[in-house]
Amino acid sequence: MSTPSSISRRTTLTKYLIEQQREHQNLPADLRLLIEVIARACKQIGYQVSKGALGEALGTAGSENVQGEVQKKLDILSNEILLEANEWGGNLAAMASEEMEKIFPIPNRYPKGNYLLTFDPLDGSSNIDVNVSIGTIFSVLRCPDGMEPSEQAFMQPGSAQVAAGYAVYGPQTVFVLTTGYGVNCFTLDRELGSWVLTHSNMQIPADTREYAINASNSRHWYEPVQKYVNELNEGKDGPRKDDFNMRWIASMVADVHRILNRGGVFMYPADKRTPDRPGKLRLLYEANPMAFIVEQAGGAATDGEQRILDIVPTNLHQRVPVFLGSKNEVDRVTRYHSEIN
Ligand code: AHG
Ligand code: MN
Ligand code: MN
Repeated sequence: MSTPSSISRRTTLTKYLIEQQREHQNLPADLRLLIEVIARACKQIGYQVSKGALGEALGTAGSENVQGEVQKKLDILSNEILLEANEWGGNLAAMASEEMEKIFPIPNRYPKGNYLLTFDPLDGSSNIDVNVSIGTIFSVLRCPDGMEPSEQAFMQPGSAQVAAGYAVYGPQTVFVLTTGYGVNCFTLDRELGSWVLTHSNMQIPADTREYAINASNSRHWYEPVQKYVNELNEGKDGPRKDDFNMRWIASMVADVHRILNRGGVFMYPADKRTPDRPGKLRLLYEANPMAFIVEQAGGAATDGEQRILDIVPTNLHQRVPVFLGSKNEVDRVTRYHSEIN
């Protein structure tokens, strides 16, 4: 049971952001406000998600997104919540979302700001109706000086991100954030309605005995991934001389959150069926923000060949293979790519 003094000693997201600015001068007021508005929108999405069958937002919407994926009603609702929350604040030049074909420039009736926001409004859509953890992933870039907010303005490598984070709507609702000085996690206090700092300076252990991959695609993987996963599966009897455990939630946001808490390696590789579609996950909405967070927590993130954060995007909805998490495992599977190809 919290006493009044322990409650007042808590660090809320607002206090944390101000302290960061005082320490590093990296979070001017407009960026702090932007992050707070995103976090507030996540609270609202979490509330809609939690209504489940009592709300009116379960099920499919009867439409497809630009990637040909069936949209759930909650995908669309979450997208709208993020757009509406962020369009009028004066902090953004434009937004881009997994659920929209084109960018969303800030309407002329509102003041424009200096930042660009990208998001996956609801990650793990296939888990919505079965009450498994899902989340929201976001990334903030600076709009290049003098550049009109166009698609081209978003074609910046992930290393240019000024902030990235995600919310998980699970047994607890959490908001994880990096602004380039480590990774911190805030838990939603539902009674007070505020985000409270609960996990400071999160670190991913360099070694792990846990991996995450959709193994049903194994026959379609390229050789480096086949070799790596086969060795894990051979366990104590194989070259790794240790048993490995597997977890796959099918919500990247929940898999990454587990890895941030206790280590692990997450993989969504390219596959031989679709040589022109490298992997499933999207660079701007999923891979970049997660790579920034993972690196800030001492982990690594590559596409099998290079650091994800070094990739210069060529289009808004670009997909990339993803290997991220505990550094020594990501380094190993990345090395297998260079040795075998
Ligand atoms: P989204 O729901 O935003 O489309 O993303 C789902 C992604 C990712 O979260 C997850 O790791 C992966 O798709 C699951 O893919 P499989 O269905 O192939 O397991
Ligand atoms: Mn997603
Ligand atoms: Mn999504």
